[in-house]
Amino acid sequence: MIGEVPDVTGAVVASLTSDGYRVRQVVPGTAVRQLAADRYEADLSSAEALHQLHQLVAGPAGAAVGGVINFLGLCQPFCRPGYEDPEGPVTVAAWTFQIAKEFAPDLRASAAAGSWFVNLTALDGQFGLGGGAVAGAAAGTLGVVKTLRREYPVLAVKAVDVDPDLPPDLLAARVLQEVTAGDDSPEVGLTRQGRWRPALKLAPVPRGLPPLALDAGSVVLVTGGALGVTAEVAKGLAAAARPRLVLVGRSALPGPESPATRDLDRAALRQALLADARRTQAPVLPAEIERRVNRILKDRQILATLDACRAAGAAVEYHPADVSDAEQFGRLIDDLYERFGRIDGVVHGAGVIEDKRIADKTLDSFTRVFRTKVDGALTLARKLRPAGLKFLVFFGSVAGRFGNAGQVDYSAANEALNKLADALAGRWPARVVCINWGPWDAGMVGDELRRVYAARGIDLIPVAEGTRAFLDELRLPGGPAEVVISGGVERMDERRPPGAPTA
Ligand SMILES: NC(=O)c1ccc[n+]([C@@H]2O[C@H](COP(=O)([O-])OP(=O)(O)OC[C@H]3O[C@@H](n4cnc5c(N)ncnc54)[C@H](OP(=O)(O)O)[C@@H]3O)[C@@H](O)[C@H]2O)c1
Repeated sequence: MIGEVPDVTGAVVASLTSDGYRVRQVVPGTAVRQLAADRYEADLSSAEALHQLHQLVAGPAGAAVGGVINFLGLCQPFCRPGYEDPEGPVTVAAWTFQIAKEFAPDLRASAAAGSWFVNLTALDGQFGLGGGAVAGAAAGTLGVVKTLRREYPVLAVKAVDVDPDLPPDLLAARVLQEVTAGDDSPEVGLTRQGRWRPALKLAPVPRGLPPLALDAGSVVLVTGGALGVTAEVAKGLAAAARPRLVLVGRSALPGPESPATRDLDRAALRQALLADARRTQAPVLPAEIERRVNRILKDRQILATLDACRAAGAAVEYHPADVSDAEQFGRLIDDLYERFGRIDGVVHGAGVIEDKRIADKTLDSFTRVFRTKVDGALTLARKLRPAGLKFLVFFGSVAGRFGNAGQVDYSAANEALNKLADALAGRWPARVVCINWGPWDAGMVGDELRRVYAARGIDLIPVAEGTRAFLDELRLPGGPAEVVISGGVERMDERRPPGAPTA
């Protein structure tokens, strides 16, 4: 059992112990040590410390851990309403990932006896979907356990979100019911009214949507907007309303492409760079050739996006910046307010993937993927002025809604975006939405993933349809804050043996 909640964890320990379980409680700390007979402290950010803890808990007989209850999401500071601590979301998601990584092999080994991993959050008792205040700092843990569930299909993995105002004795009793229920419900909410489960609802776009509330004077900030699918929606916005588009990415603004490479595709570029290297007898590794080819193709795409937006009549700026750097990105937002006095809309599409299964993923990689999406979103939440804002769209993924083998970090990040969207939608007059995209026929989805989707019968989203769906979402004032737009949704919702990663 991880974490301590006054009047709750004590009751859970006592009850499980009297049912015959051997319970060990772990609290976060800076060292690995035993605090009392069944109580330990550990630095949850250290894989080494967790491993030592595991050995201590297992004892000389090497007993396997057969169940984990993660209370971190109910502990201070992760259960406070709001997002005051920008380090909170990454900390609790990363700790949960580390715990899952350390104990999943034990849980799998005890699966025949019915092992389980129960994750607790206190968003609002309805996973942030209840329309009230959302204490969403622990939202990333949901993505961790959804992916754990995909990667270890033999485990009973359950996310339980509790109403933070439930009295402790009732809370303890209902958490115990969920732990011992032996069902396979992936997400259960506990409210004063009872047990609650989220369900996907088919929502056709209504007819007669209002026009986009943008014009040539509007300023729209688009992170990740020079490349991939976000570039496609930036072009769509340019064509639909010709606003001033401010595109952001880490890449430097490229100069014009050399005439020597301008007409070459990927294969021809590779050949040309190899021929160059041979001519100059420079020692060049294949990986370096690939890196240079990718750079040329990315630069070409950035320039093409800027040209296309301008050709559609929009004023366009490109700013090289890392959105996970709060100071750098914050300065850019401040500068826009200073220069234009307004930001009318934001699309946060910046994201990276570094797919690996939980067992093989490092904390560094987890943190990088998580921070790119979530730290950027938190800076937006802190810096944007809601009074003048018409829309804020986070680009999430079906990996957030459903979890996905190989994408524990990306899934966690996208769930964090979902719940931040819920929280902001409840407070801001703007249309705030996190779109859980299925795979597009563009962007991160390479040839390998295309084959995987084809085999699973999941259609890719054609660029024109994705762009149209995006523009429709902006015109749905009061629409839901978490939306799934994907082919094959019913197949994604199935619990099946782990497949290949999606974007
Ligand atoms: N493609 C899909 O099928 C799909 C499906 C579901 C969700 N999505 C979501 O849609 C968004 C775009 O995906 P994509 O497929 O178009 O990916 P992509 O082609 O890899 O583009 C990612 C974009 O993010 C920018 N970026 C990455 N890290 C950044 C950082 N730290 N600061 C600023 N910009 C950064 C990249 O520019 P630089 O490299 O120049 O930094 C690039 O413009 C992502 O959020 C993704 O999760 C895509």
